[in-house]
Amino acid sequence: MPDLSKLDLTKLALPLDVGGARIRNRLFLAPMSGITDEPFRQRAYAHGAGLVVSEMVASGELARGRAGCGLRIRHSGLPVHMVQLAGREAAHMAEGARIAAGEGADIIDINMGCPAKKVTGGYAGSALMRDLDHALSLIEAVVGAVEVPVTVKMRLGWDEGALNAPLLARRAEQAGVSMVTVHGRTRCQFYQGKADWRAIARIKQAVSIPVVANGDVGSPAEAAMILDQSGADAVMVGRAHYGAPWTAGSIAATAAGETASGIPASPQALADYVIAHYEDMLALYGIESGLRQARKHLGWYLDRHAASAASDQRKAILTSFEPAQVIARLRDVFQSAAESADLRSAA
Ligand SMILES: Cc1cc2nc3c(=O)[nH]c(=O)nc-3n(C[C@H](O)[C@H](O)[C@H](O)COP(=O)(O)O)c2cc1C
Repeated sequence: MPDLSKLDLTKLALPLDVGGARIRNRLFLAPMSGITDEPFRQRAYAHGAGLVVSEMVASGELARGRAGCGLRIRHSGLPVHMVQLAGREAAHMAEGARIAAGEGADIIDINMGCPAKKVTGGYAGSALMRDLDHALSLIEAVVGAVEVPVTVKMRLGWDEGALNAPLLARRAEQAGVSMVTVHGRTRCQFYQGKADWRAIARIKQAVSIPVVANGDVGSPAEAAMILDQSGADAVMVGRAHYGAPWTAGSIAATAAGETASGIPASPQALADYVIAHYEDMLALYGIESGLRQARKHLGWYLDRHAASAASDQRKAILTSFEPAQVIARLRDVFQSAAESADLRSAA
């Protein structure tokens, strides 16, 4: 374990210029499909994340006007609206970028990191790292289609034998890309093992545009370590936000020597927070779809803040089709979790 007192987080509090877009600090929320929708991004930004990114949008579906894509690219009113596109057809990527920019996107990100078979099977996401010429044709198409800055998110490579992220990053920079984000795993690792933070240094050394380091960060100490080991300019945090949309903001506040805003500090505030998130999702998606989509968030909030909840209470919340019932049970469950914690600490 390194001496944490020697690691420096302060850089994360500084603003960052991404192709002319001013980002207020260097702690970003990662794009996560099915998770970082508008209600989630609004919360993460309000807590102090420097940048938030839409879930990936399939450029082919966007170009064909498929229902549901509109919600994913819709401007959320935040100062910097960043939309991520996935795909493998240059014409679709260019058209998708034009549509997103037309909706007010300030930055377009290209997904070259998604490991899912559904995506790589269509030669999109991290499969693009197997064919850099094709990857470059997509980058050039997007850069040529829009005036706004274009960024790329990638992994270290397809597998251990093909760690070509430095080359992709360099070629992307030459094609006009303004920033790259690197998840310190290969595609074939999916999410196994531990992200290799030192390997990200090779990408940092290959380019002069900002490099964002990503993978397994969830605390100020981990943010300081990934910065130290990668030399990156910024840090992106994904799964540590489950049940805690304030994670990036809280690390950014620590870096600035401040306290993050809006973190619920009592069982009552936590219940209000979770219920407001739930209601925002129902309002956005409608009751039927919202109920289903909100369940994973409710599950994470319960795991994280009410782990002692009885399994029947938990099950009732996660299976109910009646929002009023869910809300009443959420209040009970956070209150009893707080009371049992009080009892334990008094014992
Ligand atoms: C459920 C889930 C959905 C994801 N969706 C996307 C996505 O839409 N676009 C993308 O570039 N990466 C996506 N990712 C990858 C994350 O952005 C991030 O690179 C990865 O989770 C590693 O960071 P972490 O260890 O902080 O979670 C997703 C990850 C998860 C777990």
